[in-house]
Amino acid sequence: MSLYTDKVMDHFENPRNVGVIEDADGIGEVGNPLCGDIMKMYIKVEDDRIKDVKFKTFGCGSAIATSSMATELIKGKSLDEALELTNKAVVEALDGLPARKIHCSVLAEDAIKAAMVDYYNKSGRPMPESLVGFEPHED
Ligand code: FES
Repeated sequence: MSLYTDKVMDHFENPRNVGVIEDADGIGEVGNPLCGDIMKMYIKVEDDRIKDVKFKTFGCGSAIATSSMATELIKGKSLDEALELTNKAVVEALDGLPARKIHCSVLAEDAIKAAMVDYYNKSGRPMPESLVGFEPHED
């Protein structure tokens, strides 16, 4: 039996929202120094919503699957809703991940948060409380 759920395999084999948004309103790049994987997220914001989101992940299959699922979970959502996205929600939406792959989902949550921080910085809008002092996880 595979270690990975059908949903993980599906999002790994057919990742959604792969690519770059040229005129992105926010870009977040995070990496995990232990495994060396890197994730980059692009968001386009309109009327306080995530109008579009794309990602590029240089990383393991779980990093690709979690990036893909994370983008699906925030696409079309309000900024406030997107802010609430947790790595746990991403893992649940994928029907689970092996314990030593949980950090891949943390990278996805952090990449989205980093893109949102960039958006608030660039737009000059007040940073939501939960993003103030945001630092990506180190492991
Ligand atoms: Fe590090 Fe997957 S092994 S992100």
